[in-house]
Amino acid sequence: MSTLLHIDSSVRAANNPNPDHDSISKNIARRFIETWQQNRPEDDYIYRDVGMNPPDFISQDWIGAVFTPPEQKRSPPTQRETLAFSDTLIAEVAKADVILISSPMYNYGMPAHLKAWFDQIVRIDKTFDFDLSRGDFPPLQPILSGKTLIIVTSSGEFGFEKGGIRETSGHLAPHLRTLSKYLGGVDTVYEIAAEYQEFGDERHRTSVANARDRAESLAGKLSE
Ligand SMILES: Cc1cc2nc3c(=O)[nH]c(=O)nc-3n(C[C@H](O)[C@H](O)[C@H](O)COP(=O)(O)O)c2cc1C
Repeated sequence: MSTLLHIDSSVRAANNPNPDHDSISKNIARRFIETWQQNRPEDDYIYRDVGMNPPDFISQDWIGAVFTPPEQKRSPPTQRETLAFSDTLIAEVAKADVILISSPMYNYGMPAHLKAWFDQIVRIDKTFDFDLSRGDFPPLQPILSGKTLIIVTSSGEFGFEKGGIRETSGHLAPHLRTLSKYLGGVDTVYEIAAEYQEFGDERHRTSVANARDRAESLAGKLSE
């Protein structure tokens, strides 16, 4: 039995009274999950919609708590409480074998909501450790490993891929790829991108249809 962790981050719902407003990234991710669950109904499934329910931004107290050794953590108000939600999110990541993250492109990167989730889980001695004796590169190393990561993105424009006309503006997938090591998914990262939403033309319809097909076929392959 495996555990599937699914993080959505669009502020739009998957289904709206006007379907033109439906989140594209959430619907592509949903296609992946439905296919997976048909093949492996016994698998555990953890879902978070950080677009609708954003994690708190980290704070000075949060950082203070992170860098206080467990035996010295203060109470009350306890530093453990400050980190409780972060602990929960990290436990979900640690338990997962497969992590699916869906993200819209907002201002050429990820939504602040998703960045807030990453800030809560990229934590010293939980998801990475730091040792200067390893030298300049890399003093910082991931702790988790062996996970499969699937990234689903949707953008209004197009051409953010390597060699594309907006390659230098595409900070969403590269940022997610950089952070993937802290999720334990550095070796197996799959990307599914839907583009052209702002053009609303045939290219958009084809791009979304291809992304949905790819989500279905990838879920089928990975859940065999
Ligand atoms: C606040 C905001 C910022 C956006 N910024 C960009 C952008 O920088 N580049 C782009 O290609 N599309 C941008 N878009 C378009 C979205 O990426 C596009 O609508 C995408 O489909 C949203 O994902 P969703 O359908 O899952 O909600 C932006 C949309 C919003 C609402």
